[in-house]
Amino acid sequence: MCGIFAYLNFLTEKDRKFIIDTLTTGLGRLEYRGYDSAGLAIDGASEREVLIYKQVGKVAALKKLIADQTDLDVKKTFISHCGMAHTRWATHGQPSPVNSHPQRSDPNGEFTVVHNGIITNYKELKQLLEKKGYAFESDTDTETVAKLAKYIWDSQGGKNISFTDLIKTVIKELEGAFAFIFKSTHFPNEVVAARRGSPLLVGVKTEKKLKVDFVDVEFGAAETDGIEAASAADSNGFLAVTDTNNPKLRRSESRAFLSEDGLPQPIEYFLASDPSAVIEHTKRVLYLEDDDIAHISEGELHIHRLRRDEGASAIRSIETLELELAAIMKGSFDHFMQKEIYEQPESVVNTMRGRVNFDTNKVTLGGLKAYLPTIRRCRRIVFIACGTSYHSCLATRAIFEELTEIPVSTELASDFLDRKCPIFRDDVCVFVSQSGETADTILAMRYCLERGALCVGITNTVGSTISRESHCGVHINAGPEIGVASTKAYTSQYIALVMMAVQLSEDRISLSQRRAEIIDGLHRLPENIKQVLAGDVNLQTLARDVLYKEKSLLIMGRGFQHATCLEGALKIKEISYMHSEGILAGELKHGPLALIDENMPVILVMTRDSLYPKVQSALQQVSARKGEPIIICNTGDTSITQQYKSIEVPQTVDCLQGLLTIIPLQLLSYHLAVLHGVDVDFPRNLAKSVTVE
Ligand code: F6R
Repeated sequence: MCGIFAYLNFLTEKDRKFIIDTLTTGLGRLEYRGYDSAGLAIDGASEREVLIYKQVGKVAALKKLIADQTDLDVKKTFISHCGMAHTRWATHGQPSPVNSHPQRSDPNGEFTVVHNGIITNYKELKQLLEKKGYAFESDTDTETVAKLAKYIWDSQGGKNISFTDLIKTVIKELEGAFAFIFKSTHFPNEVVAARRGSPLLVGVKTEKKLKVDFVDVEFGAAETDGIEAASAADSNGFLAVTDTNNPKLRRSESRAFLSEDGLPQPIEYFLASDPSAVIEHTKRVLYLEDDDIAHISEGELHIHRLRRDEGASAIRSIETLELELAAIMKGSFDHFMQKEIYEQPESVVNTMRGRVNFDTNKVTLGGLKAYLPTIRRCRRIVFIACGTSYHSCLATRAIFEELTEIPVSTELASDFLDRKCPIFRDDVCVFVSQSGETADTILAMRYCLERGALCVGITNTVGSTISRESHCGVHINAGPEIGVASTKAYTSQYIALVMMAVQLSEDRISLSQRRAEIIDGLHRLPENIKQVLAGDVNLQTLARDVLYKEKSLLIMGRGFQHATCLEGALKIKEISYMHSEGILAGELKHGPLALIDENMPVILVMTRDSLYPKVQSALQQVSARKGEPIIICNTGDTSITQQYKSIEVPQTVDCLQGLLTIIPLQLLSYHLAVLHGVDVDFPRNLAKSVTVE
């Protein structure tokens, strides 16, 4: 799992410093995807020479390495140039300069490649290439790909093969997941990029309008009606389309010409794993689909398909991003995670905006509308996700079952796949993922699609694989989440699932009172969250004076609060590296009670819902073993606040209470991490988007 980035300027003079700065800044925005090493490739003295710089650590270390190159002429200018860069989260081979990307085919770097993903058949390919005499320098799967390109080039005698066809041939040999960007000294100022399973987009920056055309390489002449279809689909007149619905129009290549008059003009292209890396340059992006091969040459962008396929989506349009750069910057906060926790009064409103009508007590999720009858008729609903997203499923399962009267099961995507869980046509499978790119969740979704289930995506990332490949879904609209530890996405996923349950139950008159109560709770939520955030100073003190030196922390609760315990414990362990465990209070006497004594730190979540008496008995069990729990309770619950250390949160509807109890735990984990000196937004061994199984 990594971030990849490329920058191409065509007919616009840039010096080497500008190119390096553009590459490293783009890489910096992708650092959350992996940050154990970084590297870049640029042109050397001539465009037929490549310079590769790689360094262990974050992008800052790479920048320093380049700044220390006294013989590098940073003022050298290029009219057209292609540079590419990579930030890595190791999957094959330890973090080291030689294992960092770009990987090269040979010491001259005839072919260089950056890669996000895993090539599962690389060992077989490597053996074959070694037998042919190719010597490997790294432990990576990616080097095999660079060498394979050279092998194919060499076996053609370096002639009669285009860069695109060469890379197509390489890709056809590969199994696994990838987003690649290739550069070659044989094809100066050109780039070929391809994806399967890992995200990749192309950003375009140009002054003029561009014209679109098709070239049907496989079938011969371009077809005019296709061009008209393209123009109709994008008022900017800049678009790339293939139409596989109509077999006559099935094309293997589409391209954007340089300008309406067909004459070359200055243009810049950016390739990136996600939009945050291109947004400061351009808002116009084209998301590549699996098995798309993008070729940029002479300022033109060409999209090819790896093979002619019936099922592929027909349109690749240039979209205009709505993301603002300010939204992905830290602002006045010390860390993205802190900023994102504090954004929650606003992000929850954005999740509900235009969807919850507080006057009529109705929820309308446009993306689900057409599918409501199917969902209501289904025989069960299966929630499938990983990590924090999975916890949002657990948190809302009970209210979903209560409102829909449909059985709901929750599945961790990896385990779901391991078990090859039976799935049927009348199942509805809901995939929850902040990034929309988590490999396990995507694979589980494809498994369910193959079995004919209705697949619903709940994601925070427009254009992500899950939002594109699911039948329907809901964008949670929480805004970009950069901190590796998920916070605002959790509360927004939670709300999205509650909204979905409310909408599904709208035909049940007997539940109208319950729906009204929930919608009222949603209405009060932003204010309630602000009240919880106002207690942050106390949480900082609690972290510093009570918990910081501890080795372990147990978090207990039951019912709606069980998910809070699991999610709170996950936050604490992932960013403060302190052991923490979420425990269902009902299970206490079946084992965990043995851990309790006067030295074991415990947090008990004890809010006023129907299970309050049962949690009281857990409190007694802990107290009887000399445990001294800190209690998260409702504001004004004096039976608790007068006797115990407590954290108060406003009372709300039982099924929404978890949206408030999680926030003190998010803040606590943040303060513990800061006290432990952890790089909060980049905890060790983790990455934001887990695009490998
Ligand atoms: C923890 C965290 C992870 C993610 C998990 C799934 O703070 O962020 O547990 O929730 O990797 O990621 P998405 O939601 O992108 O599928």
